[in-house]
Amino acid sequence: MTTPLLELRNLHVNAEDSVILRGVDLVVHEGEVHALMGPNGAGKSTLASVIMGHPGYTVTQGQILLNGEDIALWSPDERARAGIFLAFQYPEAIGGVSVVQFLRQAIAARRGLDELSVLEVRLDLMEWMDRLGMDPAFAERHLNDGFSGGERKRNEVLQMALLTPVVALLDETDSGLDIDALRIVARGVRTVRDEHPTMGVVVVTHYVKLLEEIQPDQVHVLIDGRIERSGDASLAQLIEDHGYESLRPSGVA
Ligand SMILES: Nc1ncnc2c1ncn2[C@@H]1O[C@H](COP(=O)(O)OP(=O)(O)OP(=O)(O)O)[C@@H](O)[C@H]1O
Ligand SMILES: [Mg+2]
Repeated sequence: MTTPLLELRNLHVNAEDSVILRGVDLVVHEGEVHALMGPNGAGKSTLASVIMGHPGYTVTQGQILLNGEDIALWSPDERARAGIFLAFQYPEAIGGVSVVQFLRQAIAARRGLDELSVLEVRLDLMEWMDRLGMDPAFAERHLNDGFSGGERKRNEVLQMALLTPVVALLDETDSGLDIDALRIVARGVRTVRDEHPTMGVVVVTHYVKLLEEIQPDQVHVLIDGRIERSGDASLAQLIEDHGYESLRPSGVA
């Protein structure tokens, strides 16, 4: 059995004084796509943030292993360099930085270089923009500034493609995204996986439609900070049909 890319063992997490995650186990092997579902406030975004090392959260128990190594003490930067990629649920506009400038810095950091030639980045960038069906002019736009929902998604996928993550965490907000934007994500994930077949993906979503297109290997349902159920893609359909109520542990308010 190979070492998983990412493993969460009995992970307990607090934000300030509140307990958010209460013992989460998750194992992502090479090339696997895992979907994380669950009601609002269940802790899905917290899980993604804590894997990335967001300083607002404290791991009170349990472990996060990347390729078998405990990364508890690593900074978010070190985690990014080691190949954990997080596409934010609500990406912020970053004033004055263009898509290509941002990628140049991010790729250099990921490869452990001080700098990367503009030419080298551009070649990769143009190739990927072409693969993803993006207009080359997009590279000069300021990051997230006035991006439509679909453009934000394309930008996320582009970052994922160029940063060659070990594990990509995609926290998908569903509000305001039309079906085309969801397809951009789904197709983008498929295109990037074709090129990097070992990449592991954890995608957070409420949308069965997205999962139909991404076809996850496993679906997990997080409720009140615990994974209450894991299964194959049919679990997503069960939730679509019956909601989360039936999966809540009985007797818990
Ligand atoms: N920094 C924080 N301080 C205090 N509470 C927090 C913090 N971050 C998250 N929480 C709380 O933790 C719970 C889980 O939040 P989280 O954003 O992880 O949920 P979610 O599953 O991503 O929900 P959604 O589906 O709405 O995106 C919520 O009750 C939230 O208010
Ligand atoms: Mg969330």
